[in-house]
Amino acid sequence: MQWASFAAVTLFAHNVAAQGSMLRFACSQLTVDRVDPLVNPGQTYTPHLHQIVGGNSFNVTMDPANHDPATLSTCTSCNFKEDNSNYWTAVMFFKAKNGSYHRVPQVGNGGPQGQLVNNGGLDVYYIPSGKTTAFKPGFRMLAGSAANTDTTKVSSGNICHRCWTSTNDNTFVGAQPCSGSDTVEIPHATNCQMIRQTIIFPACWDGKNLDSPDHKSHVAYSGSGASGGGACPTAFPVKLPQIMYEVMWNVSSFVADKNAFPTDGSNPYTYSMGIGGAAAHGDYVFGWQGNTLQLAMDNNCNLNADCAKAGIHAQTAATYNACTKKQMAPEPVDGWLPALPLGAGPAA
Ligand SMILES: *[C@@H]1O[C@H](CO)[C@@H](O)[C@H](O)[C@H]1NC(C)=O
Ligand SMILES: *[C@@H]1O[C@H](CO)[C@@H](O)[C@H](O)[C@H]1NC(C)=O
Ligand SMILES: *[C@@H]1O[C@H](CO)[C@@H](O)[C@H](O)[C@H]1NC(C)=O
Repeated sequence: MQWASFAAVTLFAHNVAAQGSMLRFACSQLTVDRVDPLVNPGQTYTPHLHQIVGGNSFNVTMDPANHDPATLSTCTSCNFKEDNSNYWTAVMFFKAKNGSYHRVPQVGNGGPQGQLVNNGGLDVYYIPSGKTTAFKPGFRMLAGSAANTDTTKVSSGNICHRCWTSTNDNTFVGAQPCSGSDTVEIPHATNCQMIRQTIIFPACWDGKNLDSPDHKSHVAYSGSGASGGGACPTAFPVKLPQIMYEVMWNVSSFVADKNAFPTDGSNPYTYSMGIGGAAAHGDYVFGWQGNTLQLAMDNNCNLNADCAKAGIHAQTAATYNACTKKQMAPEPVDGWLPALPLGAGPAA
């Protein structure tokens, strides 16, 4: 086991950031809710469902003028005690033959850290390439587009899915994220036991705006893949740590259910907007305490371990798993549902 884990670390770290260290850590589920303080601030409740991890100050409104997650959160569902950022994505659903929907459970990606210890959630990476400048308080951004239905409009080197034919957490599958046979669409072969979703964020910033009306125009990609990004374009001169989300959707119970899995070849997996892989997206609200993220990048802090030079501390899985927030929208999100929890738009 030890050997397998070590081999996975070496292989994975090699594939992702050949030149050095990166943060890579697990986050467990904070809440699953129709709330989106980035795209729909103040709206109760948003059109589609999200799964959210990170600091527990996550709320319907997180106005940077008066809401600093770094200081307002009293716990975080992510590995590092000092990281009160919020990270979220849409939720994947399985649509059974009879038309009912079921939320697809998430598992932590064991891989380099060995075991599936977190309760749902996802893994987060901060991948440096050369000297990076950490995000400033109030910084936020969006990757992907929740309304897009055209897979050709998605940058497949940055947002993709991979079929895992095993649920063995010690088996590393394939090459670099968003390469090879990875697809923009959600794979739906019946031998896929887990589906890994990868969302890589832009790593170049205009150096001025903490956000922008579309939550994208203040940042830019510089290439594709999880290498930390290439040289930044002149209008976006500030190199950021490259953020990557890795979500493991456990579809094993659905592919095993012959009565529920569609036999007409249709894709039963959809995100919570009612659109498949074309609409995969991730949201980020920065919330590291003080200059800890900058120090972590500058001092080559690695993976999910304590790093004294940056003053960052790894919590036990039991501690971060215990950081949760009650769902606010009054509706079921688990069990078999007659329809996606899409809501009826803004409600009083
Ligand atoms: C969320 O916002 C509501 C309304 O502004 C407020 O009452 C509540 O205390 C906030 N919760 C957290 C955890 O900040
Ligand atoms: C995936 O789901 C199956 C069926 O619910 C469960 O038995 C299994 O433990 C889950 N796998 C992981 C790796 O969590
Ligand atoms: C639809 O199929 C699922 C899976 O077989 C089953 O559990 C559920 O009860 C069915 N829903 C209805 C409304 O029949």
